Amino acid sequence: MLHSNVETFRWNTATQCLEILDQLALPENERYISLASVEDYVRAITDMTVRGAPAIGITAAFGLYRAAVEHWNAADKLSKIQADSQKLAATRPTAVNLFWAIERMMRTIEAHIGDETPAAILADAQAIWREDIAMNEAMAEHGAKAIGNIQNILTHCNTGGLATGGLGTALGVIRAIDMHLKNAGNALHVWVDETRPYLQGARLTAWELMKDHIDCTLITDNMAAHFMKQGLVDAVIVGADRITRNYDFANKIGTYGLAVLAKFHHIPFYVAAPDSTFDTKLASGADIVIEERSANEVVMIKGQRIAPEGVKTRHPAFDVTPHELVTGIITPSGIIDPNQ
Ligand code: MRU
Repeated sequence: MLHSNVETFRWNTATQCLEILDQLALPENERYISLASVEDYVRAITDMTVRGAPAIGITAAFGLYRAAVEHWNAADKLSKIQADSQKLAATRPTAVNLFWAIERMMRTIEAHIGDETPAAILADAQAIWREDIAMNEAMAEHGAKAIGNIQNILTHCNTGGLATGGLGTALGVIRAIDMHLKNAGNALHVWVDETRPYLQGARLTAWELMKDHIDCTLITDNMAAHFMKQGLVDAVIVGADRITRNYDFANKIGTYGLAVLAKFHHIPFYVAAPDSTFDTKLASGADIVIEERSANEVVMIKGQRIAPEGVKTRHPAFDVTPHELVTGIITPSGIIDPNQ
């Protein structure tokens, strides 16, 4: 049975608040923050106390339950909740899971607007979380079967329990491969890309894998080609923030470069994503809005300046990988070959 020691979300029945593991404090401190107002939910997503596409969607879903609680007795409750949904939607533009969760929750709210209490709204937020856990488990098993017995896998950013409600997307598959190998007396080794500039790989993925006793080595992003050339990478697996109709996808900046490298070295390149990551409204990756984050995240590391004051920088937080570079998309219902 697959298991993870990472608990990103806790629902506190007494306070009716979602408690989230503070990802800004990791890996040094494991502390939970209680989200007690709509503003708390908006801030947690904006400042990346919680991050990762499915996790953002789950947080927004509970944020809308909080909005419902705050406005349930107001005469114009629907328009007040709609205004809060717009605040949540304005937090981060690229991960479609955020908009998917908001649209689903708004449909539930409209259907139950005449109810005495917002209990049905809480039930749907909890269902979104529960469904994410189930989709993670299904992807993990499909992915482990498709990728098979390998020794070394490379991953980018954080796609684990911290980025989802359960085992993770790509990291869930990694957990399943490791479990199968361990059952057979072997073990998986994971190359963890540091993931500049926000360091999700170094701060979060390395922490998650070590917590779950999965053998890993942290490398800086520019080392991937070197290890691929040495034959030390059997497969690459990443998550996605939005997959368009032609199966192009957005993911953490640096993913596109990895896919090009994998193609050159004839290494299979997989993407793992739940249903909530597919955006059927967009035809191709060219239509995806890429979040541009603060230059500070490029020139500062933990409050320490690493570049001259005033230097020009760019910080696209995501890039788009064309489907031609993808071997398979691991979904909860099986593997999609994006080039068929
Ligand atoms: O900016 P982040 O940390 O929210 O970006 C996260 C990623 O890019 C993940 O790879 C992605 O959300 C898919 S995994 C759940």
